[in-house]
Amino acid sequence: MVHFSLLSATAGLLAAASSLVSATPVPSQQNDQPRARIVPFVNKHAVARRSESYNPADVVARDLHRIRRRNEIVDRMERSGTERVKVKRTAAALEPYDINTFRKARMNKRQTYAADPLVNNGDALYYGNMEIGTPAQVTTINFDTGSSDLIVPSVDCKNCTGPFFDPSKSTSFATTNQPFGTAFGDGSTANGVLSTETVAIGSLGLQNQPFAVITQASVGFDGPNAGLMGLAFPTIAQTQATPWFINLANQGLLSSNVVSFYLSRQGADGSELCVGCIDTAKFTGEPQYFPLTPGNASQKYWDIASQGFTYNGNLVTQTLTATIDSGTSLIYLPPSAATALYANIPGVQAAADGAHWTFPCANVDSIGTIGIAFGGSVFNIIPAQFNAGHLEQGSDQCAGAVVSSGTEDGVALVGDAFMTTWYSIFDYGNMRVGFAQAA
Ligand SMILES: *[C@@H]1O[C@H](CO)[C@@H](O)[C@H](O)[C@H]1NC(C)=O
Ligand SMILES: *[C@@H]1O[C@H](CO)[C@@H](O)[C@H](O)[C@H]1NC(C)=O
Repeated sequence: MVHFSLLSATAGLLAAASSLVSATPVPSQQNDQPRARIVPFVNKHAVARRSESYNPADVVARDLHRIRRRNEIVDRMERSGTERVKVKRTAAALEPYDINTFRKARMNKRQTYAADPLVNNGDALYYGNMEIGTPAQVTTINFDTGSSDLIVPSVDCKNCTGPFFDPSKSTSFATTNQPFGTAFGDGSTANGVLSTETVAIGSLGLQNQPFAVITQASVGFDGPNAGLMGLAFPTIAQTQATPWFINLANQGLLSSNVVSFYLSRQGADGSELCVGCIDTAKFTGEPQYFPLTPGNASQKYWDIASQGFTYNGNLVTQTLTATIDSGTSLIYLPPSAATALYANIPGVQAAADGAHWTFPCANVDSIGTIGIAFGGSVFNIIPAQFNAGHLEQGSDQCAGAVVSSGTEDGVALVGDAFMTTWYSIFDYGNMRVGFAQAA
């Protein structure tokens, strides 16, 4: 049984989305009902995490590649002054009330939703289905709260992962012929064209959603999934397009202007993305919410203030800005904060790479509890989820899920290793993030 938190947005006040190309709702699905949609995720290789073949170094390499790519994009945009798309919420996107207050009262209202599960790949990467084009072509997407572009590989991309999108088989595909290209510090590239398409998750769809169709990439563009959907703010969209979720919210098409993640643990089924909804079956207790910083038109990421990381309930680092990032597997801290945290944990050793800390795998249940403080409350990480796995095959040393970011920027990048313990609600309507104990 799925329950939704519902706060209907007012229909009829809708302004066009503030993007290069404004997205319009899919007519056949447009009606008076605000919508919500659940995307189930797959957790495919999760069993391997507990086995000796799971390699946290691969996970870190992927995370770092992604973080570098992201930082380079933002740096480049700031240098070239292209950071000009601002968060512009329409009246339909604002949610002045606490959605929890309304949850029970509105529960009986008829809503459109469907279950569309996410795959859990080793508790390190979660992805689900998205439909693109007319007729709809199904591809697999990593839903990423740490970026803002929609990127889909076309059939022309030799080094990409399928399922591929074939523009020639879609009647709704339109291209701007504007090239989209990224080149990264490690030499990898992805190139394509800015285009627009009908993009849907089940019955929740928009026409003319801007996205980048990737036609050429160097090896390893993304992962076991085909594409990427950014769920962060338009200020950091390299395509300069308003993200799909924000377009839906700005047009008042969602039951509630939230996206919520349930990321299963240890390879279990049941991971899901709830678009426009909060699935109360996936957590216990009431969510606690924390305001975004800065919380204004400059918002880039889902950033909230943290008093610091905790060990057995006690603060052991300085204050940090926490970026809640579903597209990152582990948790990245400035080197000084990571060092301060691990100094408390008995039997821990710094690994030679300068990024990891390790402990004997046999001690995982006795190393203590690591948490993050938000708003004066401590959000502990389930100890088994703090264990990122064997350092390498055959090793009796396991790596901690907190890794050095290598940068003293005061930022904690808080990824799936935290979100598997805490159901996470990204509340655009109220510019805040909520956490509740994940089921
Ligand atoms: C695929 O990736 C390899 C390795 O980066 C590269 O040499 C090759 O040119 C790429 N193929 C295409 C078609 O781009
Ligand atoms: C947003 O808030 C930050 C920090 O208070 C401030 O520096 C910045 O100028 C603000 N930006 C806008 C567009 O209001």
